[in-house]
Amino acid sequence: DEDERTERIEAALAELGDDVVILGHNYQRREIVEHADFVGDSYQLSKEAANADADYVIFGGVTFMAESADIITDDDQSVILPSMEASCPMAGMAEALQVDAAWAEITAATDDDIIPITYMNSYADLKAFCAEQGGLVCTSSNAHKAFEYAFEQGDKVLFLPDKHLGENTAHRLDMAEEIVEWDPWDPEGKDPEEAAENDIILWDGYCQVHERFRASHIEDLREERPDANVVVHPECRREVVEAADVVGSTSTICQTVADAEPGDTWAIGTEIHLAKHLDRWHPDVEVLPLCGDACMDCNAMRQIDPNYLTWVLEELVEGRERNVIEVAPEEKELAQVALDRMLEI
Ligand code: 13P
Ligand code: SF4
Repeated sequence: DEDERTERIEAALAELGDDVVILGHNYQRREIVEHADFVGDSYQLSKEAANADADYVIFGGVTFMAESADIITDDDQSVILPSMEASCPMAGMAEALQVDAAWAEITAATDDDIIPITYMNSYADLKAFCAEQGGLVCTSSNAHKAFEYAFEQGDKVLFLPDKHLGENTAHRLDMAEEIVEWDPWDPEGKDPEEAAENDIILWDGYCQVHERFRASHIEDLREERPDANVVVHPECRREVVEAADVVGSTSTICQTVADAEPGDTWAIGTEIHLAKHLDRWHPDVEVLPLCGDACMDCNAMRQIDPNYLTWVLEELVEGRERNVIEVAPEEKELAQVALDRMLEI
């Protein structure tokens, strides 16, 4: 049962002491978040990984986050992901080989300098590709800064893989007129000439959790609860972001509720576990999930089961390292360049 499991986790942590640090993304289950030394958004977790002294960084999150932590930490530190099944589908929507092919087509159609930006939600080989082409990584909290950096370095941006974050960022920078989409799966959906005529080329990837939010969810809520405020993640469709009161990364969502007045009502347009945490963390604020709590569950994040956390910790106590995430050395160095560019901006 949960009490017994908690005792086992605490006993293992007491045994391991400073050798271990646990990082937890805001979308992790309560049973993971409660054991984490630090809980935050993707950007904050990458900073915490960079500053960590522990031999073992246990990552409560998904594969691309653990990969980034492995890239950022020292070579003698190990990053452990309690489940190897925790893969974000969006990260799989832009494979480096596929991007390489698109890059060849787009660059052949223009003399302009194109800077690729990849969202953190991507694998290390794509981050390495971006670094090689003068580009960088961003997260939802600094995408606008990454765009500004890219337009200082070049003439156009290829943004991967999340078209909604790309579109929402273009709007934030008053550049919505410059957008063209590139759908690598549809022969009709990619036109190098059209790409050459626009300054922002958006790869056709998306998050299947955030795509399920619709403007009608906000309209219905406003009808039922005119007093409610709405905060959403920028992976949501443009129409949803336009209908919301606040848009931002998971840490902005946390801050928005933390800053609310007692008695205020906030509906949360993001993964359901964060809405549940905010409800627990701020009992004086009324926290509502934007769309009931049935559908907005990230299956990748959910793979980090507290039983697996117990297992990797108890194995470490026995001297066995399980589920170590190791990025290939040839990708590591370049991917680090792309991540360092983000940390610098
Ligand atoms: P944040 O960087 O805002 O934490 O988002 C990560 C993510 O995967 C959202 O779906
Ligand atoms: Fe990936 Fe979406 Fe899950 Fe975030 S919520 S980890 S983008 S599938």
